[in-house]
Parts: sequence; C-alpha cells; structure tokens
Amino acid sequence: MKVAVIGTGYVGLTTAVSLAMNGHEVMGIDLVEAKIIKLRQGLSPIYEPGLEEALAHVLQKGVLTFTTNLMDAREAEVLFVCVGTPESADGTADLSYLHASVTEIQAMHKKFPHNRTIVIKSTVPVGTGDWVANLLHECSALHVVSNPEFLREGNALLDALEPPRIVIGANDQEPFAVMEGLYKGIKAPRVKTTRPNAELIKYASNAFLATRISFMNELARLSSVIGTDILTVAQGMGLDNRIGPEFLRAGVGYGGSCFPKDTIALLQLAQEKGVSLSIVDKAREVNTTQPEWFLEHVQRQLSDLNGKQIALLGLAFKPDTDDIREAPSLKIIKALQQKGSLITAYDPIASPAVSKLFPDVLYVQTPTEACKGAHAALLLTEWKQCVSLDWSEIYASMALPNLFDGRNAWPMKEVREAGFHYTGVGRS
Ligand SMILES: NC(=O)c1ccc[n+]([C@@H]2O[C@H](COP(=O)([O-])OP(=O)(O)OC[C@H]3O[C@@H](n4cnc5c(N)ncnc54)[C@H](O)[C@@H]3O)[C@@H](O)[C@H]2O)c1
Repeated sequence: MKVAVIGTGYVGLTTAVSLAMNGHEVMGIDLVEAKIIKLRQGLSPIYEPGLEEALAHVLQKGVLTFTTNLMDAREAEVLFVCVGTPESADGTADLSYLHASVTEIQAMHKKFPHNRTIVIKSTVPVGTGDWVANLLHECSALHVVSNPEFLREGNALLDALEPPRIVIGANDQEPFAVMEGLYKGIKAPRVKTTRPNAELIKYASNAFLATRISFMNELARLSSVIGTDILTVAQGMGLDNRIGPEFLRAGVGYGGSCFPKDTIALLQLAQEKGVSLSIVDKAREVNTTQPEWFLEHVQRQLSDLNGKQIALLGLAFKPDTDDIREAPSLKIIKALQQKGSLITAYDPIASPAVSKLFPDVLYVQTPTEACKGAHAALLLTEWKQCVSLDWSEIYASMALPNLFDGRNAWPMKEVREAGFHYTGVGRS
C-alpha cells in the first residue's frame, strides 16, 4: 500500500521504517528540513537501537522516501499522523501540531481527492478522533482511525514489528479492512473498537504503568525505613501471574515523553468531566517527589552538598535512548546546582542534549572519569556502560566511596564488599 507518515520523530520514523520493512511504499514527512536531509542520507536524527541499519536497508530498496511537502504524498492511501502532542501550560495535551497536520491533509484532499484513511497514532485525548472526523466531514472518501502506539523507546523497532496488540478505533467497516491490509503480516491480537475507546486504552495503559512504578517507589520509601529489600519484594510479587514482573522496579522516578504528560492529560480530562482520578493523581505526586526523596539520602550522608563533587552516571530517561524529556536527571542536576554541588556527568548518548540545558556540568567520556574526585556517585540511568564497572578502579578514583543507586542496578553485595557505602532505593 502507499503510505505517508507525518512526523518523523521516535514514533513516526519507527512506524515509517517498520511499514517499509513490511512491504509498503512509504513516504516520511516532517516540517524540519534538517531532519529530512539527514534521513535521506540514511542518518537517523534519534538514537534507537537497530533503527539506522533498518533505515539504510529500506532506503536502498527504494521503499522509503522523505519530504517536507505533504503534497508529495498525494497518492498515499493511508496517512499516519505521528506528530507530537506535548503538555501545554495547563497540563492538557497541546493539539496544535495535530491540528496543523490535519489542516494540511484537508487542503491536499481538496486538491487531489481520492479514497484515504487518516490514522492518528499520536497520543490524543478521548474525543480527538471524532473531532478530526467532524473537521473533515465535508471531505468525502476520507476515513479517520485511531491507532494508538505503544512502542517503548530503546526497543522501538522490535515493538513496531512485533507489537503485543494492535488497537484500532473506527466507526465503520471500511477503515478496519484498510488497517487489516496494512498490518497483514503482523501476528498480534487486534482490539477493534470505537475511536474514543482506542484513545482511552492508550491513556489508561500509560497511567496504569506509571501507577505501578509509583506504587513500588512509595513502598521503597517504607522499605528503606523498616530494613526490607524492595528488589526481593518485587521479585516475590512479580512471580504471581496476576501481577507479573514488569514495571515493579523502584528507582528515582519515571520520566520520558509519555508517562508524565499522559497522566496529567488524563487527569485534566477527568477534571473537565467532574471525575476524580485520585490514584493517578497520587502516582504523579509520588513521582514528582521521588528525586527529592532520593537526594535527601545523599544530603544526609554528605551533611552539606555545597562544594561537594557529585558524579552522575546516566542522564537519559531510560537506557538505549537519547531522549531526555522529563528525565529525572534534569531535576537532580537542578537541585544539586541549587545546593552548590559541582557536577560531573557521563551518559553514552544523551550528554549533548543535557549540556544545552545545563552548560555548567562537566560532561566526560567514561564513568570512571565522572567519579574521579567525587564525594558521591549517583546512578540515574541503568545503561550497561554505567552498571558494569571496574569497582576497584572507581573506588580508587573517588574522594569518598559513596554510591547512590537510583535504579537498583548496581551489585549491592559486591560494592559493599569493595568498601563502598551503598544506598539503593528501598534496599536493606
Ligand atoms: N516517544 C514514545 O515513546 C511514544 C510512544 C507512544 C506514543 N507516543 C506518542 O506519539 C506522538 C509522537 O511522539 P514522538 O516521541 O515521536 O514525538 P517527536 O517529538 O519525537 O516527533 C514529532 C515529529 O513531528 C514533526 N512535526 C510536527 N508537526 C508536523 C507537521 N505539521 N508536519 C510534519 N511533521 C510535523 C516534528 O518536527 C517531529 O519530528 C506523541 O503524541 C506521543 O505521545 C510516543
């Protein structure tokens, strides 16, 4: 099928590459010319394992092309909308990018009318698909589908090629058939439903996962006081197949471009409708205060953070991505700088992005360099480069052997035996 993908960020680029890999003829469209120039050269503007190699492959086969002009995609039968829906000042989802792309589609459709399906992959508030359909009601032969995306950054391409489920929301049969044709080769359960149900499935999934993390983080606070080990507790809980092991890892808090903005957007929607979502609200509150709670331990150990050198290992919101949106590292850098600490930081990929926000941090090339002369080292992202370390070398390089494991990923027993003062999140 001829497909256009509007927006070539984390979701759009992954969608475009995976559809091209699955035999479709795809055109990726983005406003940002610099991205399109890079993409045409086979260079991915984002870091995502395996994506650049796959991009090169489909470019070479000639099944994926890029443009800044939507009119170039006028022959597309299916148009995916994958633009950002960031948080606006009042917490609601900012739909201006979505609105702009729908207006462009409308203009194109008027000029070159033919049967088209618009697929909204961006995460949008319940009712947005219907709103778009209303906006386009005068355009005949134009269907609107809600097809939320569930990929995980760091594993995006695999998630797009082998999704655990495909959710499709539409209000008549024709677009369901189009979507079946599009996802023909993919063996995954389908949830075929209305657009509002599809939209809520996305928000509810993210809010639920965020709640699991905050539940464990709150329990970790108790665990650290009563001397239990949250890792063992999580393991014991996760073996219950009614619970499962995922998203039970306590840490310094969740970040990223989805959980923070999607939970607040869901809360805003509920508030507008006069409904209280107190559990989601509390999950957000725990997450907001988790970095502060973590830093209190550092402060207690070092007495005064002023003038102390703190090493930060990992800056991205999770491993295997360059995405720093809402990363806990940003809050931690800000708080440490306010207390007068000197910061050295290491991240295999995300340092350039963070350095634009915090130029006063010393960014280095290895974890050992970051730890050199430090009074404490904090693990903020469990990149393998930050987890598998030569502990005797690190011990020798630090001014004080204080480790604060914000991801419960360092080997507690081993580092304690090596002489470190180790503090995890809710570990005995
Ligand atoms: N990143 C994730 O892990 C993830 C996962 C699931 C769902 N989502 C949702 O998918 C959507 C996109 O997220 P993302 O992380 O890919 O965002 P992103 O910011 O990485 O990419 C958005 C892209 O859209 C482009 N764009 C904006 N307006 C445009 C227009 N009118 N025409 C063409 N291009 C335009 C931007 O230049 C940018 O390249 C959001 O709604 C997000 O909530 C994201």
